[in-house]
Amino acid sequence: MLNQFELCSAPITAAAYEKCDSIVLFLCKECAPAVPQLELPVEVAKAVEAYLAAHDDIYDVGALTSFVLLTEGGLLQLLIAGCGEGSDCKPNNFRKAAGEAARALHKAKARQAVCAAPILLNPQRGFYAQALAEGLFLGGYTFNKFKSEAKEAPLCAVKLLSSAEDSAKLVEVAEIEAEAVCFTRDLVNNPGNVVTPQVMVEAALAMGKELPLEVTVLDEVLLKDRGMEAILAVGRGSENPPRMIALQYNGAGDAPYIAFVGKGVTFDSGGISIKPDDNMGEMKDDMTGAADVLGAMRAIARLGLPCNVIGVLACAENMPDGRAQRPGDIVRAANGKTIEVVSTDAEGRMVLADGVWYACRLGAKKVIDIATLTGAVIIALGNETSGIVANNDELVEQLKLAGKYAGENYWQLPALPECKEAIKSDVADLLNSAGRAGGVITGGLFIGEFVDKGLPWAHIDIGGTSTATKTEGVKVKGGTGFGTLTLIKLAGML
Ligand code: BES
Ligand code: MN
Ligand code: ZN
Repeated sequence: MLNQFELCSAPITAAAYEKCDSIVLFLCKECAPAVPQLELPVEVAKAVEAYLAAHDDIYDVGALTSFVLLTEGGLLQLLIAGCGEGSDCKPNNFRKAAGEAARALHKAKARQAVCAAPILLNPQRGFYAQALAEGLFLGGYTFNKFKSEAKEAPLCAVKLLSSAEDSAKLVEVAEIEAEAVCFTRDLVNNPGNVVTPQVMVEAALAMGKELPLEVTVLDEVLLKDRGMEAILAVGRGSENPPRMIALQYNGAGDAPYIAFVGKGVTFDSGGISIKPDDNMGEMKDDMTGAADVLGAMRAIARLGLPCNVIGVLACAENMPDGRAQRPGDIVRAANGKTIEVVSTDAEGRMVLADGVWYACRLGAKKVIDIATLTGAVIIALGNETSGIVANNDELVEQLKLAGKYAGENYWQLPALPECKEAIKSDVADLLNSAGRAGGVITGGLFIGEFVDKGLPWAHIDIGGTSTATKTEGVKVKGGTGFGTLTLIKLAGML
């Protein structure tokens, strides 16, 4: 059970609809003529046929057309969920439509629902069932923890009708994946006074008890021993000291490890380079990258995927204080490079400098870092697409493909060697900020300077995608968990 949905799959038969109080039909325009093959109850089939004959403006992705029918079994809620037309008939549009349907089912207090889609008459289309299941679980997400009187929807048992032989397994996988994304969302939606670096540690340790994950925690003493002065500098102004957390998953013997390294700034005030007051509270989401990594490790371990992955969470709180780092400071990161701190608000790249270095020390042969690194990525790419800066096009292609499977969109920015000039310092090796021009690129390139030479590396900037300002499709206003599903799908491709 996840988000008040209990989901199972069933073959497409007339009996499957018995006793249901709701039916959701997922339709793209081209699929509509196959509705008669779905074995719908007679009254429902007639109503749908008559309606479809008279209306062809109901197929927009995510559009819901809602009916209440009086049937032999009593009142029945019927929803037609639009999945687009022509080339729109893609799993991600079924995922989005299912997100909308999830909220409509909860709103109608459905208890026994059936989801049917002509595309699932094809036994080769089980992956649509998986996407649909993911959408249902993700769209039904709520975060009520701090509401004194939370109104929870009643539990809704959903039968997902499919001809694919492996659909039971796919629904199970979907639930594990969606649970991981919701796990990430919960961490992000909790404010900075609740989720501190130490709370991230506790979440990782709890996971290590439950799942085959080996957890290592570096507190401020161990960070100092390892020379990780960059993350220490960021955390210096906070009462909540920094933590570097590693989770190791061995599912593929002695195959090489890939590392996922997440920015875990549990609150980003900007530090001494303090941010303006408006919407500073949104910076509780500045640990989304670390939460993504933790969520992904959770699903990878629960699914028992045949891969070797190291997750690193670089956690600190960025606060102004008498002991805080100042603009102008020069700090030596663990790999020996010195950093001139132009802005204490460019803290993400500093925690990640030590984070990616640590991942290499743990033996990673490929590194992906993920971070709410810049506001510039919002200007460049908006709120639907995350930026990629990388040194290896093959890794980028893999990442983009995983993103496609996850319904998460990416765009690679050009990281020309010339761009590195901008982060050279007169007095140290590197500047932590090169100003406004190409901010996504210079931020990414800075992190790349701390990855062992020769290793494939990609940086993901989720500054524009980590939080949603409105509920739509699989997204629920607040933390989106963007990135979690991509990392899981990527691990599944290894
Ligand atoms: N966490 C922010 C990036 C951010 C800001 C993401 C707003 C989403 C919305 C990051 O630590 C930061 O402050 N970046 C600075 C970098 C600059 C000082 C080089 C930024 O983007 O302004
Ligand atoms: Mn910042
Ligand atoms: Zn930040």
